[in-house]
Amino acid sequence: KRFYRSDSQGDLARFWDHGEHFAMQNRWVFECAWEVANKVGGIYTVIRSKTGVSVNELGDQYVLLGPYFEFKAKQEVEEEDFPYHHPLGQAVERARQKGYRIHCGRWLVEGNPQIILFDIGSAGAKMNEFKHELYEKAGIGIPHEDIEANDVCIFGLMVAEFLGDFRFLAENYSDSPPRIVGHFHEWMAGVGLIMSRIWKIDIATVFTTHATLLGRFLCAGALDFYNNLAQFNCDEEAGKRGFYHRYCIERAAAHLCHCFTTVSDITGKEAEHLIKRKPDMITPNGLNVQRDLHEFQNLHAESKEKINQFVRGHFYGHFDFDLDKALYFFIAGRYEFGNKGADIFIESLARLNHLLKEAKSDKTVVAFLIFPTKTNSFNVESLRGHAVTKGLKDTIDEIQKVVGNRLYETCLRGIVPDGNDLLSKNDIVKLKRCIFAQAHTNLPPITTHNIVDDATDPVMNAFRRCQLFNNRTDRVKVVFHPEFLTSTNPLFNLDYQEFVRGCHMGVFPSYYEPWGYTPAECTIMGIPSITTNLSGFGCFMQEQIVDPQSYGIYIVDRMHIGVEESVSQLAKCMMDFVGLNRRQRIIMRNRTERLSDMLDWKSLGIYYRRARMRALQNVFPDVSENEEAPRLPSRLNYPRPISEPPSLAPSRANSPISSAPGSDSDASHDSEEEEAELQTSLSQLQAS
Ligand code: UDP
Ligand code: G6P
Ligand code: GLC
Repeated sequence: KRFYRSDSQGDLARFWDHGEHFAMQNRWVFECAWEVANKVGGIYTVIRSKTGVSVNELGDQYVLLGPYFEFKAKQEVEEEDFPYHHPLGQAVERARQKGYRIHCGRWLVEGNPQIILFDIGSAGAKMNEFKHELYEKAGIGIPHEDIEANDVCIFGLMVAEFLGDFRFLAENYSDSPPRIVGHFHEWMAGVGLIMSRIWKIDIATVFTTHATLLGRFLCAGALDFYNNLAQFNCDEEAGKRGFYHRYCIERAAAHLCHCFTTVSDITGKEAEHLIKRKPDMITPNGLNVQRDLHEFQNLHAESKEKINQFVRGHFYGHFDFDLDKALYFFIAGRYEFGNKGADIFIESLARLNHLLKEAKSDKTVVAFLIFPTKTNSFNVESLRGHAVTKGLKDTIDEIQKVVGNRLYETCLRGIVPDGNDLLSKNDIVKLKRCIFAQAHTNLPPITTHNIVDDATDPVMNAFRRCQLFNNRTDRVKVVFHPEFLTSTNPLFNLDYQEFVRGCHMGVFPSYYEPWGYTPAECTIMGIPSITTNLSGFGCFMQEQIVDPQSYGIYIVDRMHIGVEESVSQLAKCMMDFVGLNRRQRIIMRNRTERLSDMLDWKSLGIYYRRARMRALQNVFPDVSENEEAPRLPSRLNYPRPISEPPSLAPSRANSPISSAPGSDSDASHDSEEEEAELQTSLSQLQAS
């Protein structure tokens, strides 16, 4: 039997044929990463968002390999063994015979791909033997105290042994010789690749790096990174920072693979200098895009209402701004303060505050900063606000019912009710009690949690330095949420995606960002964002679109100008955005969302196919004889929206319509398409 399918996977029948072509040729793809079914950051998003297109292309010839973390796997994976007669089943059985605990099944994400997770602990007894092998054969010595690197080593050897066994078993499985690609991501999966090559397992290998270790660390310091790329003494820098062994794994994997890729040109250049190999090709990151033309606007309104609810609670007692004129900005990601640009974001917020005050603006910007760090749960002041506002809402609901009954009884008796009698004395007392409970002198908190290292925390200190304390007169308010958002979050009641939808703009002024999923995710949800020309995503958009800004992708320059100028540029971008009126924001969201297809794996998946083909052709000449590598798309040159004036002069109006910001009147230059946009927007406005 060449194919297998368990009955419980009946609904996967539609994927059935997709891998047939590959199965006939005994072709397999194993994709291996530390973040398979294990969410840490963007690499999880790469693998997870791509499963649909991968399974569609490769069917059950596609298998994901990752480390087993019980808590996460239990939530994301449906365990089920492969049939014994299948080479996957047999290879797993061999690993189990060695005493390894292997969990197989299907990942509960789009496409339902096959997944094999290796329990690192079950091979713990072999750690020294594995480390010795890596040292003897590759000259890479992992220090005892680096627990994570020890795990990476065990995982790598387990994977390489598995691939070796599978390669052998697949030989007897078909008349065609096996053609296997092992695609490894980032240094944490690098040992599997290194050992596969050292043991001469006959497979083609791809290595994709999503950053370089040195790049991430050097950028986090106070160095002029990009102007000194060629000058760093890499060995010395890695040694000084105590991660020489990790850097060796990264560098060895990049040099040993048959096809080396990275996620953007900017990281490609970095790799060339810091790991001394120029990538064979760039594999830009995509997303799983599901478009619903106008639904994203409704979803924005729905989620925004939930954020409004949070703001009412958080700013209780000081809730003196108009929610209808409030704009929600946010930054989110792993807590790399400088690399993610939180430093210049906070600095620019202070300037925006000043600009808005000077302009006597009636708008208020609430800026959310979401970076996980150590906390001792929520802070009392923050919780109290939500309790008090909930109390007020409950009391009003209760009074509303009583008043309703009272009206009903009065009208039943044929009496026209007197408005003054609607509220009883008792009702007024209850309301007064709620209103007085709101009165407090403390300013609304700048963070939702008790932060363990409050005194040294970089975000808190930047707030203090910039005097962003949520004063009554401030037009920019700040809220630091030091935890990723999940749907069980009691304050927001929103998961991260819903939260993004409810905001008006994502601000990601990164200094080090090989790709940067956060602004890309904003784009496909129709939320404008700010990124930089040091982020892979920003550069990609700049390359593909004639005028990204007219589509709500603002790209701040962090490459050619000093920090001071970047801060001013960022503050100006935010100020311009605040100047848009609602109609303009709606149009802008429509335009932003229109870019989604460009970021869809359905368009970008081709780069991965190309990389695999390149590796295969390097190793197996027969593949290159029979098969042509897929052709890569050319640059899109996505034009400016039709109603946008053609001038590229920086002083031109960058608002989504050519009228002055804030004005609703001049739509005379609009094309038919823009007119249609306006109509949609207007009907939405009327509906709201
Ligand atoms: N993210 C999340 N919850 C949050 C904030 C971020 O799940 O509260 C996710 C986000 O959706 C994105 C990933 O974390 O997919 C961050 O990826 P990115 O490429 O932006 O940065 P990385 O962390 O990989 O450097
Ligand atoms: C969406 C909804 C509208 C709502 C608008 C608010 O477009 O469909 O009903 O009025 O969002 O936009 P804003 O930018 O003010 O949050
Ligand atoms: C890394 C980078 C990030 C990128 C992600 C996925 O973690 O820091 O910029 O988006 O990988 O490639």
